[in-house]
Amino acid sequence: MNEREVTPVDRFIVLADTALKSVTGSFAPTRAAPTANSPLLELSVAEKELSGALMRVNHVGEVCAQALYSAQALATRNPALRRQFETAARDETDHLAWTRERLRQLGARPSLLNPLWYAGAFGLGLIAGRAGDATSLGFVVETERQVEQHLDSHLDRLPAGDASSRAVVEQMKRDEAGHATSAEHAGAVALPLPVRWAMRLAAKVMTTTAHHL
Ligand SMILES: [Fe+2]
Ligand SMILES: [Fe+2]
Repeated sequence: MNEREVTPVDRFIVLADTALKSVTGSFAPTRAAPTANSPLLELSVAEKELSGALMRVNHVGEVCAQALYSAQALATRNPALRRQFETAARDETDHLAWTRERLRQLGARPSLLNPLWYAGAFGLGLIAGRAGDATSLGFVVETERQVEQHLDSHLDRLPAGDASSRAVVEQMKRDEAGHATSAEHAGAVALPLPVRWAMRLAAKVMTTTAHHL
């Protein structure tokens, strides 16, 4: 059977659909949430508030991941690399759905600024993509490694009794490490130090704001 060629209009519809689903939280996960086998322990009000704030930050991170991978997949002319970005983005869709569901269970709301985070990350992804495939992959490596460290810090900060949030964060950390390793194998170049610092600063602004908003 002949496959119809993907037109710019098709691409636009997919991009708009991804953006809308990311911001409204209507993505369905392809893997069951790792919370399923974890006991739901009673958390105090303060613990619930802390878990809610931390999981809101992680949810924003996943909104940004959708935007980055969408933009980077759009920018590359290499079909194999586009598939690699799309495969990673499917894991990020699971992360997005899991963190959203955990927020709901904790009685916390997603960030009010999600459309803004999405737009900003999409712009960054386009800039990274336009810089060429090796740099775009380098951007993936640096982002995913920073996310991995960030998730590690959340494992220290999440209440000990919040097994469900911990299970989600631990699985996400494993997936992000896999994304970084795949990008390294695909030919990523290391980004210059000032760019890596700027990325850390941008991430700091995002995580600090999303904790409250
Ligand atoms: Fe993720
Ligand atoms: Fe990732």
